[in-house]
Parts: sequence; C-alpha cells; structure tokens
Amino acid sequence: MKVAVFGGTGFLGQRIVERLLDKGFEVRAVSRQTRRAITTVGSEAKAPEQVKADILERSSIGPAIAGSDAVVNAVSLYVEHGDLTFERMHVTAAADLASAARQAGVERLVHISGIGADPRSASRYIKARGRGEDAVRNSFPDTIVLRSAVMIGPGDAFLTTLVRLVRLLPVYPLFGQGATRLQPVYVGDVAEAVSRLLADPIQDVSTFEVGGPRILRYRELVREIARTIGVHPILVPMPFAAWSALAVVAEFLPTPPFTRNQVDLMRQDNVTTAGMPGLPELGIEPRDIEQVIRMIEGTGIKTRA
Ligand SMILES: NC(=O)c1ccc[n+]([C@@H]2O[C@H](COP(=O)([O-])OP(=O)(O)OC[C@H]3O[C@@H](n4cnc5c(N)ncnc54)[C@H](OP(=O)(O)O)[C@@H]3O)[C@@H](O)[C@H]2O)c1
Repeated sequence: MKVAVFGGTGFLGQRIVERLLDKGFEVRAVSRQTRRAITTVGSEAKAPEQVKADILERSSIGPAIAGSDAVVNAVSLYVEHGDLTFERMHVTAAADLASAARQAGVERLVHISGIGADPRSASRYIKARGRGEDAVRNSFPDTIVLRSAVMIGPGDAFLTTLVRLVRLLPVYPLFGQGATRLQPVYVGDVAEAVSRLLADPIQDVSTFEVGGPRILRYRELVREIARTIGVHPILVPMPFAAWSALAVVAEFLPTPPFTRNQVDLMRQDNVTTAGMPGLPELGIEPRDIEQVIRMIEGTGIKTRA
C-alpha cells in the first residue's frame, strides 16, 4: 500500500512515516520543505519518498498524491498570519486535499483533527477544526477523522516546555485555577493508531478520539512533572484574560512559547468523549505520562525546531 502523508516531516507526521515504513508501507512524506530523509527502523535505515508540495496550492496537491492508495492529512497551523488563516488551512485546504484524493481514486483518507473540534465554537481555531471535519467529509465521505488530545513526546511543544519551565521557575503561573482536565497522549501512540487505521480492515467507525491513559487537571500535571524531576515550585493561579493578552505579544516571536489558540484550548477540558472509539478499540495500550517525561528528560529537553 502506498501512503502519502501530508505534513510527514512534522512532530506527528514523522512518527506516522516511521511507523508506516516499519510496517512495510511505501511512504511519501509531503511538506513544503524536505527534511529528515532517512529514518532508522530497527537496524535498517529506510527512507520515505520526499515530495515538496503546498496544501494551500490546489495545483500542487494532485501530483503529491498521485498513485497513492491512502492519504493522511497531518498538516498544522497554530498561528494565523495575514491571509493564512485557520479557516484557509483547516477547512478550505483540507477539503481540497480530500476532493483531490477522491478524484485520484484514493481508498482511505485519515484526517487528523483535535479533541473539542466544534463548528459552533467562539474560538477561531476550534471552530475551524470542527468546520474542517465537516468539509472533508463532504468531499471524501469515508474519511476517518482522528481527533487527538494534546500530544507529548521528545520534541513536542507542550510537555517539553512545561518540564523546562517547571524546572526553571520557583513560582509557576497556572492557566486560570489550573482546573482544566487534560489527557496528554504519547505521539508514538497516535502514530500507531494512524498506521492501524490504514493497515487494518475498514471498520464501521468514522471518528476516533485518542487520549492518554490518565486524565489530569492542569495543576496536577504540573505537580506530576515537579515530582518526577524533583523540584517544588509554588503554583499561582493567573487569569485567562492575562494569558490571552500575553499570547498576542508572544505570537510576534519566531517560535511563540504559547499562542492564543493554546490559551483558548486551555479554557475547556480536553479529554476523550465517553463511548467514542479510541486507542483501546485499536488495541493500543497508551504510554504513561511519567514515562514520557523521562523520555523528554533523556533527550536533554529539546524544543521543537
Ligand atoms: N501537537 C499536538 O499536541 C496536537 C494535538 C491535537 C491535534 N494535533 C493536530 O495534529 C496535526 C499535526 O500536528 P503537529 O503538531 O505534528 O504539527 P507540526 O509539527 O507543526 O508539523 C506540521 C507539518 O505540516 C507541514 N506543513 C505545514 N504547512 C504546510 C503546507 N502549507 N503544505 C504542506 N505541508 C505543510 C510541515 O512541514 P513544512 O512546514 O515544511 O511544510 C510539517 O511537516 C495537526 O492537524 C494538529 O492540529 C496536534
């Protein structure tokens, strides 16, 4: 089976590429810049085909997916810039990819979305994610939507930053009271889920929600990190309005430490919906957060490039 992974060089995408290569798929990693050409699977070095394409340019999508049996959309946009909006990336471009996939006779499309995606949300980001799911299904009715909780692992933007800050700051500011419930999931488990959705016989399910093994309030997560790395910060509540104002400034930095959409996501619980199929239904036992913190520690706390 040939799979084109849009966003195949990203945090999640590169793990998906690795899993698929490991399972013997032919893989094409699609992104605007090519990087990380070789991946080591066991002792054997394998490389995906690397193709440059921009999902925002309709004409570049067709050649990038030509000959593929399956397509994965793991493209992201976390900060809007000018006319590069969440709507354009997560709705219009995602639907363009879906309709190109249908026209090309692709059998399976896996669309990565986020838990909480809601077309009626007041948040531009969350709304675009919800509208995107609908738009993709309109273009490719059998799309499998995989909504993920916040993903963690070496090189992530969330836990790595938290570990670094918890180590650094004697007084730690929480999002609001720190009461938001989160279910961080190891990125490798999400990649494994995608590979199973492609490898296994088609299930009669079109939406999966994947989360980690534990639900923690934000302040409990900070305490868990502090305990694991052996520090004792004082946790101080900080209003969401103050975070949103700071995020406006932070978004001017080349690599923003946090963004308005992340603050919006932190305002509401981000956990899987009861009864929705997820990792257990795919036969995956999710990795515990403590193990992931140790993995991040072991890599010398790198931040995402
Ligand atoms: N990270 C999380 O915690 C999390 C949680 C829930 C859901 N998700 C979702 O998971 C998906 C992957 O997220 P991620 O964190 O892995 O993203 P990421 O690390 O930012 O990677 C994004 C990938 O998309 C490519 N890309 C960006 N713009 C593109 C364009 N115009 N055309 C083609 N390729 C483009 C990037 O490569 P180039 O820049 O070279 O093009 C890169 O390969 C997204 O849908 C995200 O919303 C992520």
